[in-house]
Amino acid sequence: MPLVNMRDMLNHAYSSRYAVGGFDLVSLDFLEAIMAAAEAACSPVILSLAESHFEHYDFGLAMSATELAAKRASVPVAIHLDHGTSYESAVRAINAGCNGVMVDASHTSFDENISTTRKVVDMAHACGVPVEGELGYVAGVEGEDAEKHPGDVVYTSVNEAKSYVEKTHVDFLAVSIGTVHGRMQGQPSLDFDRLKQINDNLGIPLVIHGGTGLSDEQYKKLIDNGIAKINYYTALADAAADKMRSNIQANDHLGYTSIVHGIQEAIRAEVERCMVTWGSAGQAGEVLANATEWQPVYHVIIYNVSQKGNATVEEMMRKGADVLSKIPGVRRVITGDAITENAKYQFCWLIEFVHKNVIDSYREHPDHVSFANELFRPVAGDRISIDYLQSPAS
Ligand code: 13P
Repeated sequence: MPLVNMRDMLNHAYSSRYAVGGFDLVSLDFLEAIMAAAEAACSPVILSLAESHFEHYDFGLAMSATELAAKRASVPVAIHLDHGTSYESAVRAINAGCNGVMVDASHTSFDENISTTRKVVDMAHACGVPVEGELGYVAGVEGEDAEKHPGDVVYTSVNEAKSYVEKTHVDFLAVSIGTVHGRMQGQPSLDFDRLKQINDNLGIPLVIHGGTGLSDEQYKKLIDNGIAKINYYTALADAAADKMRSNIQANDHLGYTSIVHGIQEAIRAEVERCMVTWGSAGQAGEVLANATEWQPVYHVIIYNVSQKGNATVEEMMRKGADVLSKIPGVRRVITGDAITENAKYQFCWLIEFVHKNVIDSYREHPDHVSFANELFRPVAGDRISIDYLQSPAS
């Protein structure tokens, strides 16, 4: 059951005072290294895919590998969309298999941030997926020198944070208390008093972005004051790039696989160091015992049609597959035609939902209602429809 509900995972970290790493991955080397570290450290882990990196890799392909890695793991895993920029990208991520999403409207006005975030939260919760919001602005760009992207750091205000969480219903809040994304010269000074007040007022797991480059002491104080998730990328990218540079310096005629040789070990060592420092090492068993497994639901319909002519049925199924697969929480829509001619039911739909909450939100979704009432039900009066929760064993 290694793919677990991220809300359960972070609530455990929050109440037990440690932080889970949200490690951004940009290639298979990152994915394998992060998972190897989590297994070695017996640590829960969040495999994080940042929308800003989607120009470097194919998100759909990366999700297939990420999900397989999570399913094969013996430690609890969640898959998270990092810095989602819109409602549409949150839907796409959930339908592709992310079981946590971040919506980052932190650069917009307070009111706009609330309305954008609330819309994503309503949709995601109807899919059973928890949401991370951000208030205040963490400047910088992951993987680059922070000084090159100074931005205007906006600290999270305690009163605004309270009102933001009440109005948006986010499950986790990313706060701005002095960290920046990317490589820094020296260590930032962090506003721990502000963090303590936010934590005292909210009582929900808090998140730090720009996790690279802090001291062990700073990590400890962050965790003592409610940080349950630390986002981390630049140090991993630097470890990989340093290794590639040293391979090339040793021999400038190397081929690709020789150039990247050893980068998994370099990334893995840094991830393991974080897991030990942040206290998540050794927590895998406890999280597995306390967290709900992330289980899909299969919505199965077998039916006969009253109309003659397979072309009409095929057209109806094609339209249905197109419309229904875009509904939030729908992972796959498969249509089928019985192999034997005398089958009791000639046709089927197999629709995979990300979570059991989707049974209700799908049924009520206007695109489903109009497809079912206008195109499907009029021709498919003879049908059986059942929802199945995937068995833990499968
Ligand atoms: P760093 O790249 O500074 O570690 O920050 C990562 C991050 O915040 C991803 O959201």
